[in-house]
Amino acid sequence: MNIVNCIGPTLNKSEIEVAQRGHTVTDYKTDFEWTREQFDLPDGMIYLNGNSLGPMPKASVPAMTSFLNDEWRTELIKGWNTKNWFMQTNTLGDRVGQLIGAAPGTTVVGDTLSIKVFQAVAAGMAMVPDRKVILSDNGNFPTDLYMVEGLIKLKDAGYELRTPDPEDVIDNITDEVGVVMITEVDYRTGRRHDMKAVIEKAHSKGAVVVWDQAHSAGAVPIDVAGLDTDFAVGCTYKYLNGGPGAPAYIYVAPRLLDTVEPFLSGWYGHEAPFAFDTDYRPMPGKIERMRIGTPSIASFVLLSGALDIWDRVDMEEVHAKSVELSELFIREVEARCPALKLVSPRDPLERGSHISFAFEHGYACMQAMIADNVIGDFRAPNVMRFGITPLFVGEADILAAVDKLEKILNEERWKEEQFQKRSLVT
Ligand SMILES: Cc1ncc(COP(=O)(O)O)c(C=O)c1O
Repeated sequence: MNIVNCIGPTLNKSEIEVAQRGHTVTDYKTDFEWTREQFDLPDGMIYLNGNSLGPMPKASVPAMTSFLNDEWRTELIKGWNTKNWFMQTNTLGDRVGQLIGAAPGTTVVGDTLSIKVFQAVAAGMAMVPDRKVILSDNGNFPTDLYMVEGLIKLKDAGYELRTPDPEDVIDNITDEVGVVMITEVDYRTGRRHDMKAVIEKAHSKGAVVVWDQAHSAGAVPIDVAGLDTDFAVGCTYKYLNGGPGAPAYIYVAPRLLDTVEPFLSGWYGHEAPFAFDTDYRPMPGKIERMRIGTPSIASFVLLSGALDIWDRVDMEEVHAKSVELSELFIREVEARCPALKLVSPRDPLERGSHISFAFEHGYACMQAMIADNVIGDFRAPNVMRFGITPLFVGEADILAAVDKLEKILNEERWKEEQFQKRSLVT
């Protein structure tokens, strides 16, 4: 065990815990040089936004060309059988499942994360019909809250959504709560819930857990089966690099597969989709019942190529490397850019894999960085976010990014007119 040779000062207790999960922080089995080579990043760009949209794997172009020529063009409708398009929801689901600690047959991909949140929460509500409280927190990503609001309206049965401060979630899991819908990693600050504690408390009170892993999958080690969450949902376009609009996934605990109510009862979840019966019968005992309708097979091609990279990566090591790079980033920014205030937790085990700083002129400052080819993003009201993604970001990128940030701040370049205009998407 060698934790002495790592960059920077002596590791704190939490970093040591991360490093101690079976390897040294300087001696990775995962070949991060190789992973970096797999991505096609524009020349000179430092991409610190893989927490929002992962970059394109080089294999995407040949894979898509082959899909167009050898599958869609030549196979046409036959492709649903000859190229196994129909079951890719499951084959890719199993591959994503490997990254989140799910057994084969418990995860499917398809649809969008908002839809999967709706589906999971609706199913959870049906499992505890006499409990009318859905618990989340006021730091959750808005779409999760909006989906629950919609569900509550649709049900029109006296349901209530409670959103305490994130640190008060555990205390608010009471006997009234039916579903605990938690996003593990906060999209703004990177603050991370203790999912083990959330799940244990929820189960001890008879509540169902829906765990949103949007900012966790590919960022931190996850063990859905070990922690026995009821449901997990996530997206594949962030850390997993599946491409813009890549499919979402849903995991259902094996103990629920016989009984879980799909509610969004599309023909892909039917027991016999090609019987074309007029009544809906969910596929008995199988994760297929959480499928809805025809997925985007073209998106599956891109996701499959990205997962080929993930197949050769150790998630514990990705996390350890992320901690190493994040600590460096925080240390450098704090030393050289005092106007920025860290809003992510200092303890590496209490955060995901993005680092956020508050700065009053954060939007304009981020635009100036983007103009300088360092890509991060901004979240209202004042948060500058930087994704630390070891598959394609290294120490030299971190140092170069901070050099540019320091220069922009020292020269007050963020004041330039061109950086003030807000784009539609921030
Ligand atoms: C926690 C969380 N849930 C859901 C979403 C988005 O859902 P969708 O993929 O349907 O747009 C995001 C997007 O960043 C998110 O952070």
